[in-house]
Order: sequence, then C-alpha cells, then structure tokens
Amino acid sequence: MPESNDQTGVLFVCLGNICRSPLAEGIFIHLARERGVLDRFRVDSCGTGGWHAGERADPRSIAVAAKHGIELPSIARKFDRRRDPVEFDWLIPMDRQNHRDLLDHGVPREKLRLMLDFHPDPPTREVPDPYYGGPDGFDKVYEMLRVACDAMLCSLLC
Ligand code: 4NP
Repeated sequence: MPESNDQTGVLFVCLGNICRSPLAEGIFIHLARERGVLDRFRVDSCGTGGWHAGERADPRSIAVAAKHGIELPSIARKFDRRRDPVEFDWLIPMDRQNHRDLLDHGVPREKLRLMLDFHPDPPTREVPDPYYGGPDGFDKVYEMLRVACDAMLCSLLC
C-alpha cells in the first residue's frame, strides 16, 4: 500500500543493514526528534543482503551512536523489492553498489539519492563500509552521516 498519510517515507539502505544504514536511521530520527518534526517522517533501514536479518545493529555502531546520545532501534531486514519502492518516497543507498542493486531491483532512479550527495563537503562519494575495520572507522562514518543527515533533513523540510 502506498503511504496513505502525509508522512514522508525515508529508507536508508546498505549491504548488511547492521553498520551504516542503522546508524543513518538512528541519526536521522534523533535529528528529526530534536527539531520536533519526527511525526512528519516514516524512517526505516534495510540491507540489500539478508544475512543479518533479525539482528540488532553491530555493537560498534550501537557504541558510536550511544557516545552521542543516540539509540539505534533497527532490527536488520532485507530490502523488499515489492513493497519498499512503493512505500518509501526516498531510498538512500550508502554506496554505489547499493545504488546499482536498488536500480536492478526496479527502484525508480528519481527516488534514489546517494547518502553523501546531501553532504555539503563530502570526503568521498560513498559511505565506506566499516565492517572489517577498527572502531575509528565507525567514528568517521558517524561524522559523515551526521552532517549528511542534517543536510538531508533541512532539504526535506524546505
Ligand atoms: P553494512 O556493513 O552494509 O554497513 O551493514 C556490512 C555488514 C555485514 C557484512 C557486510 C557489510 N557482511 O558481509 O556480513
């Protein structure tokens, strides 16, 4: 069913849905709540792969979010090619491979924006996958996601 209310649907997408997209989801929810506009959005995240379905976010994502007073509500799930392109207004892939995979799954190009395309001064075009690295990778990902989510929220509220 398409969104039947006035909420804007935002779906953050990465590969495993345990590191980057749950962090983006938690940051976006936090910023929208801070601004008193959370009820205007439906926010979720998913992975193009389903290996971690049912799991909470990676402990390193949970830890970096907690350092900044942010909780991560995400339980990992796989992208649903039938429902997600219809139910969400914006699908926000973290990297180009996620973007290609969503296009291959039939997501309309005009609903897709790379996460860092919202960043005013992006260090790279893609949010690097921190899964196989150390904890400092999660700090770097947090910083770029925070700036990008803030800019994204501004652009959606304008
Ligand atoms: P994410 O990171 O896409 O940011 O959630 C990954 C998590 C798990 C795997 C790959 C990337 N994995 O291969 O299990």
